[in-house]
Parts: sequence; C-alpha cells; structure tokens
Amino acid sequence: MKRILTGLQPSGKLHIGNYFGSMKPNLELGKTHEAFLMIADMHALTTIQNAKEMSENIRDVALDFLTFGLDPEKTTFFRQSDVPEHTELTWIFSNIVPLGVLERAHSFKDKKAKGLEANTGLFIYPILMACDILLYDPHYVPVGKDQKQHVEMTRDIALKFNHIYGEGFPIIPEPMISEETGVVPGIDGQKMSKSYGNTIEIFADEKTLQKKIMSIVTDSKGALEPKDPAACNVFTLAKLFFSEDELKDLEGKYRAGGFGYGDAKKWLFEKVNVYFAPYRKKREELAKNPEKVDTILRFGAEKAREKAKAKMKIVRELVGL
Ligand code: ADP
Ligand code: TRP
Repeated sequence: MKRILTGLQPSGKLHIGNYFGSMKPNLELGKTHEAFLMIADMHALTTIQNAKEMSENIRDVALDFLTFGLDPEKTTFFRQSDVPEHTELTWIFSNIVPLGVLERAHSFKDKKAKGLEANTGLFIYPILMACDILLYDPHYVPVGKDQKQHVEMTRDIALKFNHIYGEGFPIIPEPMISEETGVVPGIDGQKMSKSYGNTIEIFADEKTLQKKIMSIVTDSKGALEPKDPAACNVFTLAKLFFSEDELKDLEGKYRAGGFGYGDAKKWLFEKVNVYFAPYRKKREELAKNPEKVDTILRFGAEKAREKAKAKMKIVRELVGL
C-alpha cells in the first residue's frame, strides 16, 4: 500500500470550499492508502498569535475530521506540535537550504510584495513542511495547487541531503494534485476563502447558514426572465449538493424563466442543510466529549512519533551528531 501524508493548518471554521476541495478527497484517499494526516499547528503560529484562538482551531479541525468519518485506527491523525522531531529536523535542514530558495517561496514573496512584514517563521515555513513530509517517507503528498512549490522544495531538500550525507530519504515524495476538484465559489463569486470573508461555514447554526446562502451574489435578472445556469454561483454550488435529476430540473427552471434566484437559493439551502444535518448532530455529540478527541490525537501522536524518532536516529547518524 502506498503511503500518503498531508497537513492542514488549523486556521478557522470549516467552509464548503475546504470540505469539497480538501477534506472530502483526503478522507477518500485515506481508505486506499496508508495515511498520515497532520494538524499543522506549528505552521499556524506564523499567523495566529492568540492561545485561545489556536487551541479552539485545533479542536475544531480535529472534530471536523472525526465527524466526517476519519478512522483513527487506519489514519495516523496527529498534531504537528506533539512530535518535536519536526522542529529538530528543521534546524538540520536549515543548514543545507540556501537563502535564495526560501526567498523564492510564494508564501514569503506574496507577503513581501504586499508590503507586509514577514516573520522568520514564515520565511522558513517551507523547511518545516519538508520535515513534516520527509520524517514519514510518504510516496505522495496530496495538496492544493498553491502548495505544489513546497512539495517541490521538499524533493530538492531530500535529494540534497542524500547527496551530502547519504541516503537518509530513500523515497522522494511526489505532490498529488487533484485536478478535478474545481474551485468552489464563495458568496461573492470569487474563490471561497476565509481571507475574502465570503465563506459558507458548514457548522454555523441553521439560521446563519440560510442567511449566507440567501446572500449569494447573482446578476440582476428578475424572476420572470430566463437565466444562464453556467453563469450563476447558486447553480455552481448546487452542483455539489443536487442529484443529477434535481440538477436537470433546476437547469430547466433557470432556462424557462418564472423561477427567481430567491427560489433557487431556498432550494439550495434545503439541500445543503439536509446534507450536513446528520454531521452537525454527530459533531455536537463528539464536542461533548473533549477527552475522547484528546485521546485520539495522543494515540496518533504516539504512532507518528515512533516513525519520526526512527527517522531522526538515521539522520543524526548520517550528519554525525
Ligand atoms: P482558506 O482559503 O479559506 O484560508 P485554506 O487555505 O485553509 O482555506 O485551505 C485549506 C484547503 O482547502 C486547501 O487544500 C485548499 O486547496 C482547499 N480549499 C480552500 N478553499 C477552497 C475552494 N474555494 N475551493 C476548493 N478548495 C478549496
Ligand atoms: N502548508 C500547508 C498548507 O498551508 C499545510 C501543511 C503543513 C502541509 N505541513 C504539510 C501539507 C505537509 C502537506 C504536507 O496548506
């Protein structure tokens, strides 16, 4: 069985874009691969500097994954900060990565281009990510397109280390970019993203969910006019929740006219609500039992740490420490 590893920053409330673009496909991959899934809380420190927010976010991601069916017996599910080998290896790798490579990293470049002050953590972020990956010898790293460069840096770091010190990292991991997951639009039509403030949060209460869906931006065509489904955000989102027959029905209604955007939004709300209702219940149940979530993460950390420690033993020997 091929091994996969991916990480997610605990950066806020789960939205529909995260779910379809990342969580759902990752959970599917976990069924056919030996999977490692890490809550990248150390990476989140580059932007979150509030203890309460950090610990709530970590708890939220853990609850979200368990709610949607992550099996902690099958997938090694852990917090990055529970495995100190990640930061230990970061120091070792820091000494073989030239500054120029890090200066070319998108995350750092983008921040600088916006005139924002980047901290050292953000600068060496790709090295920490390389450690996250290489400690576990995965074959593939499922990530969004925006992370491809980081996986390529990881490959370069592994090859360079092997060249200098000997084969510490026999498996050079490949990025696994899922092409078919389109970009999920937010309520304003741009990519749904926390940073654009246009998200539809999955576990918001029903009223908020409804309000969000009713506020999806459309063109100004009146209820009687025929409409183009391909040009409508409501329709694009409906594709994720409607059955084929329902979608055909909706498309017909758009083209025929006499069916307003308000009607389409109400229908979408009902479908989204029904889709997530059982999960909302399950999540509420899980949230009542924080010790259980802690135990699962601790169990994952133990399994991860065993691997990470074994790898560090090899690395320490190779570098002569
Ligand atoms: P955000 O942009 O809201 O901060 P993140 O960057 O934390 O979201 O994204 C976490 C994961 O969810 C990434 O793998 C990303 O590719 C995926 N993702 C986020 N937004 C979308 C979207 N609108 N459509 C598809 N996938 C998305
Ligand atoms: N940097 C990734 C992101 O922001 C998260 C991440 C951290 C990651 N470590 C990883 C992804 C290791 C894949 C593998 O999305």
